[in-house]
Amino acid sequence: MAVAAIRVLVAEEVKAFLPYVSVPADVEIEWIPASQPLPAGDYRGLLPLLSRRIDAAVLARLPGLAVVANYAVGYDNLDLEDLRARGIAASNTPDVLTEATADLTWALILAVTRRLCEAERLARTGEWAWHPTLLLGMQLEGRRLGLLGAGRIGQAVGRRALPFKMEVAYWDRLARPEFEDEVGARRVESLETILADSDVVSIHLQLSDETAGLIGARQLAAMKDGAILINTARGGIVDEDALCEALESGKLRGVGLDVYADEPRIRACLKALPNVVLLPHVGSATEDTRRRMFELAWANLMRGVRGEPLVTPI
Ligand code: DGY
Repeated sequence: MAVAAIRVLVAEEVKAFLPYVSVPADVEIEWIPASQPLPAGDYRGLLPLLSRRIDAAVLARLPGLAVVANYAVGYDNLDLEDLRARGIAASNTPDVLTEATADLTWALILAVTRRLCEAERLARTGEWAWHPTLLLGMQLEGRRLGLLGAGRIGQAVGRRALPFKMEVAYWDRLARPEFEDEVGARRVESLETILADSDVVSIHLQLSDETAGLIGARQLAAMKDGAILINTARGGIVDEDALCEALESGKLRGVGLDVYADEPRIRACLKALPNVVLLPHVGSATEDTRRRMFELAWANLMRGVRGEPLVTPI
């Protein structure tokens, strides 16, 4: 008697990484582009991109689902309560993207503090000459980096501050003694204090009910005059209207963003300002990392469809 195939729905955008994993003979993949709604049916596993919302309405159409293996470390696109209520396992892709995301965060810190995008645009015009005050930026040495969140990525960003001779402070619900010893980082208990004391503030928090809109007008006003804000976590953590006001008023020296509240839409005011560096959510976008994310998500998917413990459960 033929054994029924284990059917899984996988984001078509990750197809290029399929040669790096093995597909068991009893597994049947259906590729689904992010732009299309999920089909209803008897699928056991789902491997979605972070742009796909997985909630009760979606799950109602997938009655046989055993696992959602998110292709991202962030999982704000998953309604965990709905998943739990239906006994569906869920996983994310921690660790494999930590270093790539920390590198990209530093690319933004350097791009904003040294005005790289403005400089690059000017260089192309040919309308420039060396001048002692041309495009002066902020020196990092001796300045303070304030990390909002000191999980894996926050700590990796903090470690990279040492060669730049920056002081590191962090705001996190957990004390991180090993990180403190390694980097000389200081834990700050209050959000207002770390904002007021940091020259560069970098966000490394999960988006949740507690962190949505966390950085609003009051918090931006609490920042040092002329400070820099970097966000490679999730756009919804920052109130973008308030951010535009803080930039337009000159309160902030500059901002570097890889994430937005309503991706792929970016507010006109952010696009209009020269001291804002905008990237299209590419924090983890290296060949190695995106492949490892797939390998990990796939391993979770294959375990989940057979009811085995996941490698990186949420
Ligand atoms: C994630 O994984 O959450 C990033 O935003 C994309 O890699």
